[in-house]
Amino acid sequence: MNKWYIAVLVALMLSCAGSDNKSAVYDILPATRSAELTEGKFVFGQGTTFSIEAPASDSTALHRNIVDCALAADGKGNGNITLKCTDGIAGITSPEGYRIEVSERNILAEATTGAGLFYAIQTIRQFKEEHGCIPCGTITDEPAFPYRGMMLDVSRHFFGKEFIKKQIKALAQFKINRLHLHLTDAAGWRVEIKRYPRLTQFAAWRSAPQWKEWWFGDRLYAEEGSPQAHGGYYTQDDIREIVSYAADHYMTVIPEIEMPAHSEEVLAAYPEYSCTHEPYREADFCPGNEKSFEFLENVLSEIMEIFPSEYIHIGGDEAAKRSWGQCPLCRARMKEESLSSVEELQSYFIQRIEKYVNSKGRRIIGWDEIMEGGTAPNATVMAWRGSELVDQITEEGHMAIMSPGNFCYFDSYQDAPETQPMAFGPYLPLEKVYSYNPVPENYDSARARLVYGIQGNLWTEYVPTGEMAEYMAYPRMLAIAEIGWSNPKVRDYNDFRRRATKATTRLRSQGYNAFDLAGEHGERRETRGTTHHLAKGAGTIYAPDSPYNAKYNGGGESALTDGIRGGWTYTDGRWQGFIRKGMDVTIDLGAVKEIKEVKAAFMQMCMPEVWLPAKVTISISNDNRTFNGIASISHNIELHKPYEIKEYGWEGHTSARYIRYRAERGEQGGWLFTDEIIIN
Ligand code: ACM
Repeated sequence: MNKWYIAVLVALMLSCAGSDNKSAVYDILPATRSAELTEGKFVFGQGTTFSIEAPASDSTALHRNIVDCALAADGKGNGNITLKCTDGIAGITSPEGYRIEVSERNILAEATTGAGLFYAIQTIRQFKEEHGCIPCGTITDEPAFPYRGMMLDVSRHFFGKEFIKKQIKALAQFKINRLHLHLTDAAGWRVEIKRYPRLTQFAAWRSAPQWKEWWFGDRLYAEEGSPQAHGGYYTQDDIREIVSYAADHYMTVIPEIEMPAHSEEVLAAYPEYSCTHEPYREADFCPGNEKSFEFLENVLSEIMEIFPSEYIHIGGDEAAKRSWGQCPLCRARMKEESLSSVEELQSYFIQRIEKYVNSKGRRIIGWDEIMEGGTAPNATVMAWRGSELVDQITEEGHMAIMSPGNFCYFDSYQDAPETQPMAFGPYLPLEKVYSYNPVPENYDSARARLVYGIQGNLWTEYVPTGEMAEYMAYPRMLAIAEIGWSNPKVRDYNDFRRRATKATTRLRSQGYNAFDLAGEHGERRETRGTTHHLAKGAGTIYAPDSPYNAKYNGGGESALTDGIRGGWTYTDGRWQGFIRKGMDVTIDLGAVKEIKEVKAAFMQMCMPEVWLPAKVTISISNDNRTFNGIASISHNIELHKPYEIKEYGWEGHTSARYIRYRAERGEQGGWLFTDEIIIN
């Protein structure tokens, strides 16, 4: 979209002045699909009244929302807001769509469902809160995707029900309609299951409050109420309260019960459902044992009683399947069912669970590993390991919910890592989240319809508090909201950022600890242009026993002399990685040249085991055979330092044709990453 056109429209909107019938993206977030403006504005006032013509099942929630959003004073005069359910609205196909007609005296919001009216209220509310008025004309709006979600991991750190309700309230403002709760994982079981009390008497409690201490410590569970017990869980009444609060905000809560893996806590409490029957030994259920299915079906039965969602998420990710190959029951199952691999055994497991869930009138979602060994026939697949998985999922005819880690995982740094609290994943700024398009351009409309939606995921290994969770989620969830709702053909990051900055300010004023976009540092300065130096374009000779990694090649043979510097993350295609040994590269300047400086920057990011070198040596030669050392630099690697970029170099005065730069790994092994060898 033409930026000048947006700027003019925005100026009009800000003053709520009318303009001549212009279709435009309104000044709200997520951007509306279309709007026709006329002259004048509706000014919200003390006496604005409202009326609702909707089925009784919706009118209570809508009434509450109108009051909650302080849209009307329910008094006399100063205009009227009418919310009306109708049979159909021209130009709208989604049940969540709505139309708002605004005149100077009245606002008429129409939709075919209560959800549509709820979203109309959110739109009106943003105008009121940001401008105190709404321009006259007609807004016609509907979502791009039916599923617009956020996942919150309440296992790694437990967040109480009031916190969950607070997030529902924030997310609903931006038309997010699914909250996926990751309720179970090694770090703690978080939902009361009456038939299996040990899940909440024991598996919900652990020996350290923070995941980090616990995971890198003893990984023990504890009896509820004992001095060393840290954690918590939702009672079934808590869940009912959360679900009902979400329903009032037209949001569905989807529970995730992990299986067959990520179940250390269950198998510590009930070891009989693992292959070895030993507590603290396994993470995976035993799919050979009928009792595992009996347990899981009983758990799911209680889950389905308290969560009315169409979908139940059954996890399915990262099963090591280690014990299955040796387990007599698993081997017997494989023989009996003619399964030729542990992947097929996993597929058998998921398909059995799907049959059970389907028999109760519900459907399953699983992480994308559920496709290994054959996808369960009716499953919806949640893609996390890559955006390209959309092709495989839809090719198989399954519905896809897209939450690829490199765009949608908010446990990653959102700004210059050295300025941020420790995070799990690499650099994922708002702009990158916003750049994601879940539907590949070449899809026809039938295939595009299989892309059910998008989700932002907040894993909480390094998110110990609610404050921090909000900080990591907002404003990045606003990008998910806009991708999920607005027209993908009208994307302008600068315009979005302007609206997201205002929305973030509003969230902060509502008591959310959102990251302050106005103070964003942005990408590493070195990435902004080419670095010119003496060795730019020079040849490189890699020692045969220290090759660069094929995946993280940073641009291949010329990566270290191309003048292209890496950003805040080693995954940006600009950093070159070494995993086999250290790095040992010789630069050929082509002729003997005067040298005053040799340096290279390395990255440390401890979670993915990317470490600074323990030692760097620099030597020079004129014949590429006899080298003289000019520098030897040792470094004590701080294994607990989450993030650092550090230069190792030499300064002096010499001359040479060949410069050999060697970087050695520390005892801990792992990766070395560098982006350029700079010679001046
Ligand atoms: C996942 O991140 N293991 C779904």
